[in-house]
Amino acid sequence: MAKIATLELDGKKYELPVVEGTENELGIDIKNLRLDTKGVVTLDPGYKNTGACESAITFLNGEKGVLRYRGYSIEELAEKANFLEVCYLLIFGELPTTDQIKKFHNDIRAQSQVDEDVKKILDGFPKSAHPMGVLSSLTSALVAFNPSSVNVDSEEDMYKAIVKILAKFPVLAAWTYRKRTGLPLDYGDDTLGYVENFLKMMFRKPNGEYKTNQTVLNALDKLLILHADHEQNCSTSTVRIVGSSHAGLFISISAGIAALWGPLHGGANQAVIEMLEAIKADGGDTKKFMAKAKDKDDPFRLMGFGHRVYKNFDPRAKIIKKAADDVLESLGIEDDILDIAKALEKEALEDPYFVDRKLYPNVDFYSGIIYRALGIPVEMFTAMFALGRLPGWIAQWREMRLNKEPIGRPRQIYVGETLREFVPVEKR
Ligand code: SDX
Repeated sequence: MAKIATLELDGKKYELPVVEGTENELGIDIKNLRLDTKGVVTLDPGYKNTGACESAITFLNGEKGVLRYRGYSIEELAEKANFLEVCYLLIFGELPTTDQIKKFHNDIRAQSQVDEDVKKILDGFPKSAHPMGVLSSLTSALVAFNPSSVNVDSEEDMYKAIVKILAKFPVLAAWTYRKRTGLPLDYGDDTLGYVENFLKMMFRKPNGEYKTNQTVLNALDKLLILHADHEQNCSTSTVRIVGSSHAGLFISISAGIAALWGPLHGGANQAVIEMLEAIKADGGDTKKFMAKAKDKDDPFRLMGFGHRVYKNFDPRAKIIKKAADDVLESLGIEDDILDIAKALEKEALEDPYFVDRKLYPNVDFYSGIIYRALGIPVEMFTAMFALGRLPGWIAQWREMRLNKEPIGRPRQIYVGETLREFVPVEKR
């Protein structure tokens, strides 16, 4: 029996249909609210209570710390899958067979050249440019070199655009890193796996062979899986709304990169390390920084803590925390900021301010410690997040286009001046 919600306003009752998802989530369908009420809309800054779409890609339960991609638990995928398999799963909805993943990878390899003229755009950036700004620019520049990837309406044309961006983005990310470090730009080796080739493009020295460290490869592959999608987060919602104007996949991804850059979102992984380094430089006094985080007059927030959805724990943070221990031990690295991180986490989990507000470590709290151990510089941490989130952005954009969703255009409640007449300057 379909559920109905009843709204009463100014003595009138309105019946609103209720949508029930496969995990029993309920959404009041307000598609016709403004029409039926002759102008009334809902108001929800930050969309904390608003569902933007029906999606079959990722399921989160923030109270129970559940995260699943297409029904598979993040714990199983992080343990048993590889990143390219997860890309395929998120985008096409099923785990690939051997033949399917082979074709997918070969189609990606076939597109892994980036026009040499893109290097001229990269050359225009100062070495100090933040990688996220460079990557957002280079990703939008790809449109000019791949015009056929813009107006894609058929599944076949979408597929071509999808394998192109999956092929070219890792090259752009590696080139962005190498440009900052003064290394010649490298194409890697297409006979390698997707993530292994990315590592080679990043770290191969021009005067020597690059030998893959299996621990580093496994750790990065797992991190990318953990970052691959997260339903309607800020950057994914940006990709969907830009894509809803049919602006094309590449420019929608470019917009998603821009949104992810923010320190309240993907930029937090860089901000966490900078915070931990500041605590270390300040003598390791975590209590001082906890006090700052709780002080309403202080804009400082405990980076890597809190989440819009997870109100018990972020399942990704639990997996990454264990992986951080394993990677540091396996690589024989002592990193005292890991100790500071653990001390900070212990304190926060016992502090009423954080407990009352259900603030727990999120995906960004420990990921930077692993990236550091893998030799990735802090400015590239959010670029790593973007590489991981790329398949999620693609999957969500493809779902939005295949569902033929309308252009995103929220309403507002106007609170400005009412009608007034123009006053000539001599009378103001
Ligand atoms: C990601 O949405 C996703 O799924 C995102 C993500 C993904 O995979 O795409 O999971 C990735 O973005 C993780 C979040 C990374 N950001 C950070 O670590 C930055 C620090 N965290 C906060 O800025 C904050 O927790 C947010 C932005 C993550 C969530 O903010 P909300 O849901 O809007 O919560 P809020 O700002 O309304 O905070 C509620 C209360 C407030 O206090 P009161 O006004 O009730 O007194 O909690 C406080 C906040 O001041 N608070 C914090 C805090 N986070 C929230 N206080 C101190 N330190 C913090 N980190």
